[in-house]
Amino acid sequence: MNRIFLASLGVAMAVLTGCDNANQSTTTTNTDTVLVKVVPATLPDTAAFRDTTSAQPTALYILKNGHAQAAVTNYGARLVSLIVPDKTGNPTDVVVGYDNINSYLHRPDTYFGAIVGRYGNRIAKGHFKLDGKEYTLPTNDGPNTLHGGTKGFDAGIWTGKQLSDRSVQLYYLSTDGEMGFPGNLQVKVTYTLTDSNTLRIDYEATTDKATVLNITNHSYFNLNGQGSGTINNHLLMINADGFTPVDSTLIPTGKIEPVAGTPFDFRTQTAIGARINDNNQQLKYGHGYDHNFVLNKSKDSLAIAAVAQGDKSGIVLMVRTDQPGVQFYGGNFMKGTNPIKFGKKDDYRSAFCLETQHYPDSPNEPSFPSTELKPGQTFRSTTTFSFSTK
Ligand code: GAL
Repeated sequence: MNRIFLASLGVAMAVLTGCDNANQSTTTTNTDTVLVKVVPATLPDTAAFRDTTSAQPTALYILKNGHAQAAVTNYGARLVSLIVPDKTGNPTDVVVGYDNINSYLHRPDTYFGAIVGRYGNRIAKGHFKLDGKEYTLPTNDGPNTLHGGTKGFDAGIWTGKQLSDRSVQLYYLSTDGEMGFPGNLQVKVTYTLTDSNTLRIDYEATTDKATVLNITNHSYFNLNGQGSGTINNHLLMINADGFTPVDSTLIPTGKIEPVAGTPFDFRTQTAIGARINDNNQQLKYGHGYDHNFVLNKSKDSLAIAAVAQGDKSGIVLMVRTDQPGVQFYGGNFMKGTNPIKFGKKDDYRSAFCLETQHYPDSPNEPSFPSTELKPGQTFRSTTTFSFSTK
């Protein structure tokens, strides 16, 4: 939907002053009147998310609060769109996604916006032991299992239930033995868009056999607008004094090392790309940033994990969580081959993920916080993504 604004409008001025937002298109001028054509970010067509050929129908659920909007599909419980105002008030879609269900179903997997599990991140060589019993999982990332295996939660069709215009709940039953994991795991994820432009994600899970669980949201953010180029000039703060270094297959060595004096020190806001080409073995293994940060402990149940800021949009994202870690992934495997919303491509390092979670490979690292869930226990966790401008 195109709209024409007169240049006197604040929004239009932002375009003229060079705000290179993915949602904005051409600037046309004539001698007296300056007309600026702005394409504000809009939500995808809900009809393009109806697929009845799969075992269960897919749909798109819309959340709105008057200033911000979000769209979630029950395929992989994925966040498809998240539209918030930039510093000039221009609606900006800050998450990468496709505008139709077919692309999600048939494109090579990127985990755009998905809930990943049963074990998000990596399990070394697809093996772990629990209560003395060996479990074998399908490997899908070199020698390791990534994001739950060849068909993780991201590729499941969840049962969606819109609770209100602010909230949608999604349910998934991961059956005993699915992708090699023990126990029937009932998972419930609730997305809520609050009045203060916070997208809150609440997770809940129960099992009927002891199992391991690491569940997170895999949204790719570009705070200048998805598809608007590099994220290397975004500022980032990560509230972590330590990180878990990895081997060449991105499995933690088991140590926690201080970030001080390394390119992993984001304790004060730093441009993401400022040190990305440093001669650092960990950056080489990760092809850039693709590491778990050990979040500093806090008295708040929802501690600040990270704060990022779009260099062009002024949009600030604050991430809070009760999880012990966050995987900061800088879009190193994005190839520019997938057609994302608004006719854009998923270019190299044009988005980043902040996946709040337990540490990778915890089931094989007794010194890491436990990811075990037993029958009778209820796993509960919350992460919030709050938006403001600067
Ligand atoms: C991240 C992971 C990366 C990459 C990405 C998906 O969570 O750490 O290595 O696999 O997902 O492309």
